[in-house]
Amino acid sequence: MTTRIFVSLDAAALSVGAGPVAAAVRAEIAARKLDAKLVRNGSRGLLWLEPLLEIETPEGRIGYGPVTAADVKSIFDAGPKADHPLKLGLVEAIPYLAKQQRLTFARVGITDPISMEDYEAHGGLKGLRRALGMAPAAIVQEVADSGLRGRGGAGFPTGIKWKTVLGTEAAQKYIVCNADEGDSGTFSDRMIMEGDPFSLIEGMAIAGIAVGATKGYVYIRSEYPHAFRQMIRAIEIARVKNLLGTNILGSNRIFDVEARLGAGAYICGEETSLLESLEGRRGQIRFKPPLPAIEGLFGKPTVVNNLVSLASVPIILAEGAAHYKDFGLGRSRGTMPIQLAGNIKHGGLIELAFGTTLRELIYDYGGGTYSGRPVRAVQVGGPLGAYWPTNLFDVPFDYEAFAAKGGMVGHGGVVVFDDSVDLAKQARFAFHFCAIESCGKCTPCRIGSQRGAETVDKIMRGERVVENIDVVRDLCETMRDGSLCALGGLTPMPVMSAMEHFPEDFDRSPARAAAAE
Ligand SMILES: Cc1cc2nc3c(=O)[nH]c(=O)nc-3n(C[C@H](O)[C@H](O)[C@H](O)COP(=O)(O)O)c2cc1C
Ligand code: SF4
Repeated sequence: MTTRIFVSLDAAALSVGAGPVAAAVRAEIAARKLDAKLVRNGSRGLLWLEPLLEIETPEGRIGYGPVTAADVKSIFDAGPKADHPLKLGLVEAIPYLAKQQRLTFARVGITDPISMEDYEAHGGLKGLRRALGMAPAAIVQEVADSGLRGRGGAGFPTGIKWKTVLGTEAAQKYIVCNADEGDSGTFSDRMIMEGDPFSLIEGMAIAGIAVGATKGYVYIRSEYPHAFRQMIRAIEIARVKNLLGTNILGSNRIFDVEARLGAGAYICGEETSLLESLEGRRGQIRFKPPLPAIEGLFGKPTVVNNLVSLASVPIILAEGAAHYKDFGLGRSRGTMPIQLAGNIKHGGLIELAFGTTLRELIYDYGGGTYSGRPVRAVQVGGPLGAYWPTNLFDVPFDYEAFAAKGGMVGHGGVVVFDDSVDLAKQARFAFHFCAIESCGKCTPCRIGSQRGAETVDKIMRGERVVENIDVVRDLCETMRDGSLCALGGLTPMPVMSAMEHFPEDFDRSPARAAAAE
């Protein structure tokens, strides 16, 4: 039987040399005339082990990592049974992976991402097949019953959004997948596009059938060229295999998808700016109401969902709402793909039911900081998320529990900082980021962010520190209450959390400020 050897084509793996490793594997197979095949899979999400090379055996896949092209010959010489300095044993037994609860990411790293046969063999299309036999309202109800909430940041219940679009009469409706993925330290959308693109296409097709939309768009951030190319390939294959088109899986249902490259601005991830951008205009916020669900793309009712939200739909339909809802706690149901990044030893993707803690993620999975110094802070939920001190690391990962402590789950990005971090600098960065990325439509954000950065500069220089801290608080209140969208509205979250939890970093006496320069 042909032995399959896996080397990931995920952009993170490519960035550390998976390309040359794959070429070396091909060369060894040819030179040794082996009955073996190289599969370019998605990443398992154990990023510190990339490039990870896996050899299929009757017992399971044996992993080696991180591998360079120069290591490949010795791995082939040894074979999967013998020892090798880079041998990791059975990949699925590595605790980082074995302890996860993978629902949305169940196939990522396992299948050949662009093989429909592999996709089906691993549970793909089961959800769509079931949906094709259901009434649209029943599909929407199933998603509502699962408790799925938007994984893009706001955590809005997906079933309610779909219900609004279903209930709005129109000759044309749209499904828009938000794959702009602008949050710092996040890469789950990208990993799905590169590692299991059919799950997104299937989720979008189910959404289309549910709400009566025949056309979908995937809006992909411009910094993701590999994901974009993979989506284009996957869409073409999906058309050939009748997952898309005028006769989905032999039914009389119609749905098609196009991939579009984003415009390279953080604000283009906000749903109304995204729609402006998709329509060919500058990414700028639209006033709400009307909601996109009523008047969205080209003025038509539109479901705008994050990629992970849509890619979670097939498993919900395949296994039923109750199965998905069984994971999680409170109003946070199902699983969350959490992305560990920043100063962390074992960065990567960890899909777990809601309810885990930052402590477990950072120490048990992440192994502490990459620098070996103590963890001092983490920022959760992207550049607009709160900075958490270590004494809050036991708060359960849950939308409401995080909000109660002044933070947010966001898109599941966790960026770790060691004790060399200066939280005043981070607060300045938050204002500066907002100033750069502001769409300019409203004054609190456009001007407030600029004034905020200037005021933190004064604090850092030790100028009238107490008064300027008050000015920052005032500015934050104005931005929070007066901004048109969450870019300006949430910038106070990192700033205020930094001031609340790390006040010592803002206590800049002139002498201290001089010493820091
Ligand atoms: C400034 C800003 C940036 C955003 N960026 C993203 C993004 O990159 N990806 C995303 O899915 N949602 C992003 N959102 C949230 C979207 O506006 C919207 O809530 C989301 O796409 C809805 O999908 P969901 O309900 O599945 O989460 C952003 C929001 C704001 C205010
Ligand atoms: S808060 Fe206002 S200026 Fe800032 S991005 Fe949103 S709409 Fe644009």
